[in-house]
This record gives sequence, C-alpha cells and structure tokens, in this order.
Amino acid sequence: MALVYISPWSDANLWRQQVARHLPGEELRVWPDVGDARAIDVALVWKPPHGALATLPNLKLIANLGAGVEHLMADPALPRHVPMTRLVHPLMTEQMSEYCALGVMMGLRRVAEYMASQRAGQWVAREADVAPPSQRAVGVLGLGELGGDTARKLAALGYQVHGWSRSPRDLPGIACHHGRDGLDAMLGACDAVVCLLPLTTATRGIIDRRFLGRLKPGAILVNAARGAHVVDDDLLAALDDGRVGFALLDVFYDEPLPAGHRYWSHPRVMITPHIAALTLPVMADVILANVKRLRAGQPLVDQVDPTRGY
Ligand code: NAP
Ligand code: GLV
Repeated sequence: MALVYISPWSDANLWRQQVARHLPGEELRVWPDVGDARAIDVALVWKPPHGALATLPNLKLIANLGAGVEHLMADPALPRHVPMTRLVHPLMTEQMSEYCALGVMMGLRRVAEYMASQRAGQWVAREADVAPPSQRAVGVLGLGELGGDTARKLAALGYQVHGWSRSPRDLPGIACHHGRDGLDAMLGACDAVVCLLPLTTATRGIIDRRFLGRLKPGAILVNAARGAHVVDDDLLAALDDGRVGFALLDVFYDEPLPAGHRYWSHPRVMITPHIAALTLPVMADVILANVKRLRAGQPLVDQVDPTRGY
C-alpha cells in the first residue's frame, strides 16, 4: 500500500523527506499523480481539492496536516467512514499560546497607541489605562488543545482567566463556562477575548454585533482561529466607535486578506498572515505515528469526530 500527499499549499518534498525518515520503505505519491488509486490507503492532506479523497477507494486514514478540519468537513464527497486525524503537537500549542498572550498584552498595554505616539514624537503616558494583570479578566473561547494551554499560560501571567467550551470543562485556576448562557455570562466580565474555536456550523459568525455588544467598552479581541468566526462589518463598527479597543487578527474570511480591506489600515487593528501556529516539518513525527499505529492495528490518536465537526 502507499501514501498520497494532497496539498496545493506546501512543499511535497519536505513531506517526502519526513516519510523517508519516519516510515522507511513506505511509498509517497503526490496528488494528482497517484498511479493506481486502489493502492493508496493513507492520505496526508491540507486543504485537498474537494472530491479528491472520494477517488481513493481503499483509504484507511485521512491525516490532516493542520489542526483545523473545516475544509475537509466542507467537502460534499468526503468519505466520512474513513478515520480522520488532525495535528495536535506541543510545538504548535506553544506557538499559539505565545501568539495569543502577545495579542492580549499588546492590547491591554496599549502598544498600538504608544507606537503611534512614538512615531509622532509625543510623550503621552496613558496612566488611566493601566491595571495590573490580576485586575484584568481574559476570556478564552475554546478550551481544547490550543485554548486550554493559552488559558493556563494567561493565568500564569496573573490574569483572571475565563474559558468557554461546548461541554463542561474543569481546568484548575480557570473559571470555566459552557453553552450559550455561559458565554453571555462570561463576555461581560472580560477585558480581552481570545478566539480559539474550531469553525463549525455552531461557531461560524459567532463574533457578531450581539457578541461584541456584550463586551466591556474598549475590550481587546484576538482571533487566531478562523476568519469566518467574525462578522467583519460588525467588528469594524465596534472598532470604529471604540467598543473594541484593539484587535489582533491572524485569520480572515478570505486569505490573503484582499487589498483595500479596512483591516489593513484600521488604527486599532494589527493583522498577521495566518502565522499564529504553523505546521513545521519537525512535527511530522506525530502525524506519521498514526500511520505506524494504523499499520500495527493499534488505535489512532487525535481523531476528528465528523458528527461534531472538529
Ligand atoms: P480542539 O482541541 O478541538 O478544541 C476545540 C475547543 O472548542 C474545545 O474546547 C471545544 O469544546 C470548543 N468548542 C467547539 N465547538 C464549540 C461550541 N459550539 N461552543 C463552545 N465551544 C466549542 O481544537 P484546537 O486544537 O484547540 O484548535 C482550535 C482551532 O484553532 C482549530 O480548529 C483551527 O481553526 C485554529 N488554528 C489556527 C491556527 C493559526 O495559525 N491561526 C493554527 C492552528 C489551529 P469541548 O471541549 O466541549 O469539545
Ligand atoms: C492552521 O490554521 C491549522 O489549522 O493548523
């Protein structure tokens, strides 16, 4: 049997090297040159063209090379009976927690305003804005692999941390909420909110006018999950009138962010080009370990639940 690599986004040669290193003797084919499709039992994928996976009749594992699986879930021809795994790696988690803590701290410490003052040659101390972390509350949407670690690290920095998940969670030192009522209760308490939710039918557009209206005036938003979590017009309106004081945005409805989009130049926005937590070649060991488990007849880890959508 053979593996196939299906990703128009990254370099197949990097994965060829990783397969040679971690799975010596295994053959890696690169989509669309699959040869006899019946010989393929494992697909290593990142945003594969919709319909591609359905052409592989003997597939036993779909291994997603990133954390988010919404692109797979949106494939109308996705072979849902085939086990699907996603990337969960401590180095990805580290990157994400660092990024989100950066955004919270930049926002709460008014870094954008101080940089503007510096560029204008002005010495302006915003003393009224200062509050120590223990007097600031940060809410983390999603308490999974990435959100859970981000919440713990923000708590270690001294913030009062709230977290929100679909099912009840119990994380030491974090005020945990769940369900729609839990979200409403949490938002009003937060000086900053970090979004680390998967994109599903339940979370698409969740950061809308209603959500933003519940935040404290001048609250900070960090979105490192998916652009479609945000209703952009609603966020821009809240940024324009200062209801949101600063937003660090890594992900967008359309990527790259189209030229001329208001996020590019909004004084309260910092954008980054979807780099919060990257899949690095060094993470291949964890992804390919599931192929070894499959070959050995052992249970897979980091499986996606297609009924939940994440
Ligand atoms: P995860 O481990 O699956 O955790 C998801 C969390 O979201 C869980 O706590 C889950 O609740 C919660 N959740 C799901 N649906 C919900 C709902 N309807 N209401 C409330 N909470 C809900 O995912 P992860 O590994 O932390 O990754 C999260 C997302 O980060 C990915 O899906 C991806 O989109 C994004 N990401 C972005 C980058 C980047 O570079 N920008 C990199 C990697 C990942 P339960 O605990 O109850 O299941
Ligand atoms: C990146 O956005 C990922 O989901 O891994």
